Amino acid sequence: MNLSSTLKLNNGVDIPLLGLGVFRSEEGDETYNAVKYAIEAGYCHIDTAAVYGNEKSVGRAIKDSGIKRGDIFVTTKLWNEDMRRGRQYEAFEESLEKLGLDYVDLYLIHWPVKGEYVKSWKVLEQIYKEGRARAVGVSNFHIHHLDDIFAASDLVPAVNQVECHPELTQVELALYTQSKGIVFEPWSPLGAGQLLGNETLVSLAKKYNKTSAQLILKWGLQRGFINIPKSVHKERIIQNAQIFDFTVSDEDMAEIFKLNLNKRTGADPENFSF
Ligand code: A2P
Repeated sequence: MNLSSTLKLNNGVDIPLLGLGVFRSEEGDETYNAVKYAIEAGYCHIDTAAVYGNEKSVGRAIKDSGIKRGDIFVTTKLWNEDMRRGRQYEAFEESLEKLGLDYVDLYLIHWPVKGEYVKSWKVLEQIYKEGRARAVGVSNFHIHHLDDIFAASDLVPAVNQVECHPELTQVELALYTQSKGIVFEPWSPLGAGQLLGNETLVSLAKKYNKTSAQLILKWGLQRGFINIPKSVHKERIIQNAQIFDFTVSDEDMAEIFKLNLNKRTGADPENFSF
């Protein structure tokens, strides 16, 4: 396994195991440089969203890096307000335009906005059928949200991207998601950076001569997940990719699971106000 290793989505499309996340990465030089560093380091997967406000910088960095379009996997997401205003298709086209692309690899419904997400899924179906997204999926969906999609559509989401890290292990949701052939993709895999000083993680990581960030990311990989850690620092972006040369033992995997507190760093999909 290495940086270009992939998992197969339920429609046969390959998704690279490791991507760069750009949530809270500023539009302009910060995002532009992070994406450039990542591609230089061998990343071939970038995860952004309309609401992050940095799709233009992501697109510019991809273009300037010289990487071939077919060699980079780009995800973006449909924002809540665009669902409420019934402008899903327009929002998708705006994302493409900002990214400077004529298709994305993965397009996700960002949050399960009540009364809107099933309707929005129909638009994603259309976008998928038109070949403008190679795969479509969801984010922040709990089991009952997924079930609503299954009841309304024959198109099964390719991915469910949800907050997940050692203090929010998401065992039930991840297993349910995976049992439906949907790839589980944690956001904030490092607990938004707050877990990196955790004593248990730091001491377990030392055994492997790795950092706590690398240990956490490998724990996710070994659960069969896609990892999209965010960093804007070159050395950290490189470090977060150096996770393919060790294996976390079963005992240590179990130790990490014990850190679960069902603690979120972000909003609860059952109850969010944006
Ligand atoms: P920065 O962008 O300043 O490098 P998550 O992906 O869980 O949301 O975590 C992102 C946070 O973790 C960011 O604050 C990021 O900071 C920090 N971070 C990412 N990778 C590392 C690393 N290898 N070492 C230390 N901090 C990291």
